[in-house]
Amino acid sequence: MPETGVRPETGVRPETGAGPVPDPPVTLPQTRTCPFDPPPEYAELRETCPVAPLALTVGPGVGSGWLVTRLADVRAVLSDRRFSHRNELIGLPIPPPFPMDTYAPPPAAPGAFIKMDQPDHSRYRRLLARRFTMRSVAALTPMITRLTEEYLEAMAGSGRPVDLVSAFAEPFTVRVMCEMLGVPEALREPLSRHLAVLSRMHYTVEELITACTAIAEALQDLVAAKRTDPGTDLLGELATAEGLTDEEVVNLAWALLGGGFDTTANMLALGTFALLAHPDQLALLRARPDLADNAVEQLLRYLTISHLGASRAALEDVDLNGVRIKAGDTVVLALPAANRDPAHFDAPDRLDITAPAQGHVAFGHGEHQCIGQNLARATLRIALPMLFARFPDLRLATPADDVPLRSDMLHYGVHELLVETGD
Ligand code: HEM
Repeated sequence: MPETGVRPETGVRPETGAGPVPDPPVTLPQTRTCPFDPPPEYAELRETCPVAPLALTVGPGVGSGWLVTRLADVRAVLSDRRFSHRNELIGLPIPPPFPMDTYAPPPAAPGAFIKMDQPDHSRYRRLLARRFTMRSVAALTPMITRLTEEYLEAMAGSGRPVDLVSAFAEPFTVRVMCEMLGVPEALREPLSRHLAVLSRMHYTVEELITACTAIAEALQDLVAAKRTDPGTDLLGELATAEGLTDEEVVNLAWALLGGGFDTTANMLALGTFALLAHPDQLALLRARPDLADNAVEQLLRYLTISHLGASRAALEDVDLNGVRIKAGDTVVLALPAANRDPAHFDAPDRLDITAPAQGHVAFGHGEHQCIGQNLARATLRIALPMLFARFPDLRLATPADDVPLRSDMLHYGVHELLVETGD
């Protein structure tokens, strides 16, 4: 156990006077009792031990992890450059994807900016940011609307239950992203298939190698094609940008595809499930389409699909809410817990599409906050109201308890959502 600022003889945190410190360290809570609520342990930790010793399974800092559950602390860490996002410094709070003798994560490859710190991170991020502003994304509204219509029409009229995930949420959101980036149609299915392997919590070494090789080869070919025929899309712009190597462009594209591949899709499907399970809120949204933007924000907060949180490593000793985090320690920011913090949100465990959701961390916070958030918001703000308008009698085709949940994936959601469209 590292030095914690906790009196070992009492286990009570002297500075904050909060409750007892868990001994042994907690493991990352993962078991839910309700599909829409984070694991119940979070509420108690947030109340009694907001910076709790956390057991890491492998990697740097094993034996010195922390779990942070209050919104103010989560935001403080995510906006503090004394906490690093470098891959090679961060230990895992969950078991690695396959058994391994040693887990020594490598530094980020050129272009893989997500796992970099300043100044490299912002040098790469700047190349992308212009395409993800609210203004740039607003220009995509006609395309997103057209695709929504297309997928909803395809779902209609079968008279049988339809899986909203495979018929709409997944292919539609992948297509929106690929249109924006400039990924040709022929590559979308294979890229999705291989990215889907990497979005699981567990896979074999062979599956890892097969998926990574296929993704890298497809993106290398794509970058080569964009160098000669860039078009007007984002990948064409990157491929012809001065001073970027092929490897950098491939990894920038991979970061975007990986980040956007299943996130918006999960929010769309889980958000639909949540609204169907809260008929009063759905009725309100149908009656007042002007609430759509706020409803999306509330769903992002309430559902927080990044259920494993965000991880950082301390670069120096830092005091956080009365606890000494030592240089080298891994800190896990429990985004689902922070987004239910009663110190910030009134009635945080209730889905209320009229309540303010400002300050939530569903997209993270600080320099690494989600670059795709405007695209995700635009997609959800268009797609959810159109779905409920097109199918006024939409309902679950199975009992809610039978909906298979994505607790086994890096992003939470539903594997399948069988619905009756009522058409
Ligand atoms: C509802 C949908 C989405 C959610 C909930 C979401 C969530 C998040 C979160 C929590 C982070 C911060 C992680 C951290 O700080 O460790 C993040 C970062 C990121 N997201 Fe998203 N995301 C969504 C959609 C997208 C989309 C559509 C794209 C791509 C087009 C994308 C690409 C990225 C990238 C590249 C980063 C890393 C940014 C950086 O390190 O500077 N995300 N996302």
